[in-house]
Amino acid sequence: MNILVAGGAGYIGSHTCVALLEAGHTVSVVDNLLNSKIEILEQIKKITGKAVVFYQVDVTNEAAMETIFSEHMFDGVIHFAGLKAVGESVAKPLEYYYNNVVSTLVLAKMCRSYGVKRFVFSSSATVYGDNKVPFIESMPLLSTTNPYGETKVMSERILMDFAQVNNHHSIALLRYFNPIGAHESGLLGESPNGVPNNLMPYMTQVAKGKQAKLRVFGNDYETIDGTGVRDYLHVCDLAEGHVAALNKITAGVHIYNLGTGCGTSVLQLVEAFEQANGIKLPYEIVGRRPGDIAECFADVSKVAQELGWTAKRDLVAMCKDAWRFEQRLLS
Ligand code: NAD
Ligand code: UFG
Repeated sequence: MNILVAGGAGYIGSHTCVALLEAGHTVSVVDNLLNSKIEILEQIKKITGKAVVFYQVDVTNEAAMETIFSEHMFDGVIHFAGLKAVGESVAKPLEYYYNNVVSTLVLAKMCRSYGVKRFVFSSSATVYGDNKVPFIESMPLLSTTNPYGETKVMSERILMDFAQVNNHHSIALLRYFNPIGAHESGLLGESPNGVPNNLMPYMTQVAKGKQAKLRVFGNDYETIDGTGVRDYLHVCDLAEGHVAALNKITAGVHIYNLGTGCGTSVLQLVEAFEQANGIKLPYEIVGRRPGDIAECFADVSKVAQELGWTAKRDLVAMCKDAWRFEQRLLS
C-alpha cells in the first residue's frame, strides 16, 4: 500500500515507517520537524535500505496538504502529527487544541476528498481517565485532566462522526499505553528536547550522568510497592500494531488498546533497567506528580483477537534498546 505518515519523523512515527517499509509498503512522510530532525529520515534509510518521500509541511496547512494528496494516490493515512507534552498542554491550551484537532480535521477532509479509505489515529490511554484497571475499549471514558487528553477525546469523536456518514472509510483509533525503548540498531529512539518528562528517557539520562538522580513521583499509591503502575510496551511492537491495523481494518471505526496487558511499577522498571544493563540508577522518592493516576494497564484481548497483534518484546529488550540508543547520542 501507499501510505502517508503524518508526523513520521517523530519517535513512534519513525519506527512505524521502518515497520511499513519492511512490510513492503511505500511511505511518504509529512512533518513540520517541530519535535524531530531531518536526519531521522537518513536513519530510516540506513535500517531499511529504502527511502521515504518527505514533505516538510505543517499538517494544519490545508492548501499544502491538498497539493500532497493531489500528487499521490494514498491507500492510507497514519496520523502521528500531534503535540504530546501533558504539562505544556496546560500552559498552552490553544496551541494544543489547534494543532491536535485541526490536524485531524484536515487529514480527514483530505481522505474524504481524495478517496483515501484507511485512517489510523494515534490516540492514548489517557482517554480512559482514572477508570478501573484493566482499561477495556468498551468502557465509558472518564474526563481527562488536561488539554492534551481532551484533544485525543475530541479527535476520536470527530473521526467517529466522520465514519457515520462516510461509511466506506476504515478508521482505527489506537489507544497507546506507554511506549518505551528504541530500534535495536540504536539508530532510532526517543530524544526529547530539554529535561525529559517521561520515565524511561529520564532513566537513561540518569544512567548517562546527564541527570543526577531519578525522582520517583510518590510511593503512597495503592499499588504493589506504592509507586505508579503503567503498561510499558516496546516502540517496535507498537509500530507493528499500526501495520496490522492498516492491513486488517474494515469499513467503520475500530478502537484498539495497544499495550502488553501487564502493569509495571516505577521501582520495578528501575530494577529491570539495572539488571538488563548492569547499571545502578540512583533515585529518591518525592511527592506525587499532579494529574498522575495510580495504575494504568490495558485489556488487550480485542486487539489480539481482531488484528492478531500482541506485543512480543519484553522489559529487558525495552531497557537494553533504550540504553543503547541513549549511549549513541552525542550529548
Ligand atoms: P513526537 O513528538 O516524537 O512525534 C510527533 C511528530 O509530529 C514530530 O516529528 C513533530 O514534529 C510532528 N508534528 C507535530 N505537529 C505537527 C503538525 N501540525 N504538522 C506536521 N508535523 C507535526 O511524538 P510521538 O511520541 O512519536 O507521538 C506520536 C503521536 O502518538 C502523538 O499524537 C502523541 O500524542 C501520540 N501518543 C504518544 C504517546 C507517547 O507516550 N509517546 C502515548 C500516547 C499517544
Ligand atoms: N515518573 C516518575 N519520575 C519521572 C517520570 C515519571 O516517577 O521522572 C512516574 C510517573 O509518576 C508515572 C510513571 O513514572 O507513574 C510513568 O510516567 P510517564 O511520564 O513516563 O508516563 P505517563 O503514564 O504519565 O504518560 C504517558 C504519556 C502520555 C500518555 C500516557 C498514556 O506521556 O502522553 O502515557 O498513554 F497519555
